[in-house]
Amino acid sequence: MRFVVIGAAGQLGRDLTPLLPGEVIPVGRPAVDLTQPEGLSALLDEHQPDAVINCAAYNFVDKAEAEPDAAFAVNAWGVRALARECARRDCLLMHFSTDFVFGLDAHRATPYLPTDAPGPVSVYGMSKLTGEYAVRTECPKHFVIRTCGLYGVWGSGGKGTNFVETMLKLAGQGKPLKVVGDQTCTPSFTKDIAAVAVGLLKSDRYGLYHATNTGAVTWHDFARAIFDLAGIKADLSPTTSAAYNAPARRPPYSVLDCTGLTAAGVAAPRDWRTALTEYLSDRNSRSAA
Ligand SMILES: NC(=O)c1ccc[n+]([C@@H]2O[C@H](COP(=O)([O-])OP(=O)(O)OC[C@H]3O[C@@H](n4cnc5c(N)ncnc54)[C@H](OP(=O)(O)O)[C@@H]3O)[C@@H](O)[C@H]2O)c1
Repeated sequence: MRFVVIGAAGQLGRDLTPLLPGEVIPVGRPAVDLTQPEGLSALLDEHQPDAVINCAAYNFVDKAEAEPDAAFAVNAWGVRALARECARRDCLLMHFSTDFVFGLDAHRATPYLPTDAPGPVSVYGMSKLTGEYAVRTECPKHFVIRTCGLYGVWGSGGKGTNFVETMLKLAGQGKPLKVVGDQTCTPSFTKDIAAVAVGLLKSDRYGLYHATNTGAVTWHDFARAIFDLAGIKADLSPTTSAAYNAPARRPPYSVLDCTGLTAAGVAAPRDWRTALTEYLSDRNSRSAA
């Protein structure tokens, strides 16, 4: 099988690309830009892939509130163009989305199934949901995988960091840290989400899936776990989303039910704490190398 991976230099793209079973053509900007659909057609004509894996996204959740056109250009309209190009070639499209397609239900306290009605509360969430719909309506052979709070050893491409790295950096500066304790989700290791993606590619059960590490945690408790596991003393305390006052609203609860993976013969990823432990070990080995 021949794969084209778009956004191959991002966190997830870096972990997924080496695992793909076949010939792999990793592409990133400027060679391909999702906001330039004519380039997508030329790219697929050149490489004639059996599957396109789209790891690219506009991921600036807060900035998107001020520049919705930029977020939609990549996450919605660029993805729609890609889905149409894939469909025209009978090519499989694997695309990634987010727990931020949820959030409208402020009282939710049980994990969301893929069949639950979405309700985003941010421009980013709306742009990603539009992209999901585009893939699902335009491209029959598709996997759409919703995931959450990604951290990968390669750091976060365009953003230049991830939550774990940000916490470690701020703790290193010795400043008091306030982290929201009223948003519950499941931060996930890109290595584990990459393994799920590869598992799904072995099946032809196309559709919408949820894939995160297992369990649920607030961002404050996740930060606490980072410091405990890393053996760092940090001046950490919880705050509220209202006090933190980020430009974009976030879901108070966005845990995803991943049991749908088993129908496709794919095991749900391990629990978040075990994954975090391995991430910390992997990043330390990498920085020591
Ligand atoms: N990060 C999270 O916490 C999180 C949570 C839930 C879901 N997701 C989803 O998971 C997927 C992977 O996320 P990630 O964390 O691996 O992302 P990432 O590290 O931010 O990487 C995104 C990649 O997309 C590329 N990109 C951005 N705009 C592009 C454009 N117009 N055309 C082509 N490439 C473009 C970036 O390239 P440059 O390096 O050139 O900017 C970068 O390589 C995305 O669909 C994301 O929405 C992420």
